[in-house]
Amino acid sequence: MKIGIIGAGQIGGTLTRRLTKLGHEVFVANSRGPDSLVGLAKETGAKPVSVREAARAGEVVVVTIPQGKIPNLPKDLFAGVPDEVVVIDTGNYYPQQRDGRIPEIEAGSTESRWVANRLGRPVVKAFNNIYASHLLELGRPAETPGRIALPVAGDDKRAKEIVMGLVDELGFDAIDAGSLDESWRQQPGTPVYTADFDAEGVRRGLAEASKERTSRWRAIGNSPGSFARPA
Ligand SMILES: NC(=O)c1ccc[n+]([C@@H]2O[C@H](COP(=O)([O-])OP(=O)(O)OC[C@H]3O[C@@H](n4cnc5c(N)ncnc54)[C@H](OP(=O)(O)O)[C@@H]3O)[C@@H](O)[C@H]2O)c1
Repeated sequence: MKIGIIGAGQIGGTLTRRLTKLGHEVFVANSRGPDSLVGLAKETGAKPVSVREAARAGEVVVVTIPQGKIPNLPKDLFAGVPDEVVVIDTGNYYPQQRDGRIPEIEAGSTESRWVANRLGRPVVKAFNNIYASHLLELGRPAETPGRIALPVAGDDKRAKEIVMGLVDELGFDAIDAGSLDESWRQQPGTPVYTADFDAEGVRRGLAEASKERTSRWRAIGNSPGSFARPA
């Protein structure tokens, strides 16, 4: 498959490494431009491109930048990109440590619904609940006992199936976690978040999740730039 990746950090870099190894053609972008990605390109064979090119490069496009930086992406990033192109959101909202306050999420929007609204484009939520290092190293062949399972949430059946196929190729069981509005079940603070459960554990964790956003995952202060101050 041709896959565009926007963000070349921990998750974007990991997906670039893993997906090129699996034989996919990867087009990767960051905020500093293609020249800063020469090393990753040399290592993996991925093609460094601009953010706009990455959005137009693939059958699948992964958006994997810090949640608070989503508004910095070009407003018309996906203008003219065919509807069949599947967009994956790996993001998590870390209001206290990184992202500051995002009022819509504080008011109850799921994190990925907010991303979809900002991008003006449906997204499938995946890869948000596993550490990048585990995504890099802990994939196993299908049927391996204890194989880690990853929840995949989204509104479009076909898009979700494509993403679930990629999850499986990467060495993880893919669990259908329902619609995007149900994706709070896999957000930070839920049982499945960074837990590395197998398929049964993920199903149970999703079912037992609570919708309430606990204080640890809420913003402090009222302005977009309000972060926790060190004690
Ligand atoms: N780290 C994990 O283990 C992990 C696990 C699951 C989910 N996640 C989530 O996945 C998302 C990405 O996390 P990460 O840890 O991979 O982040 P990261 O290591 O901090 O990397 C962020 C990447 O985003 C790029 N970026 C930032 N603003 C951009 C913009 N406006 N346009 C294009 N690229 C931009 C950065 O490019 P420059 O360096 O050029 O600025 C960098 O390549 C976050 O929402 C995070 O919560 C992370």
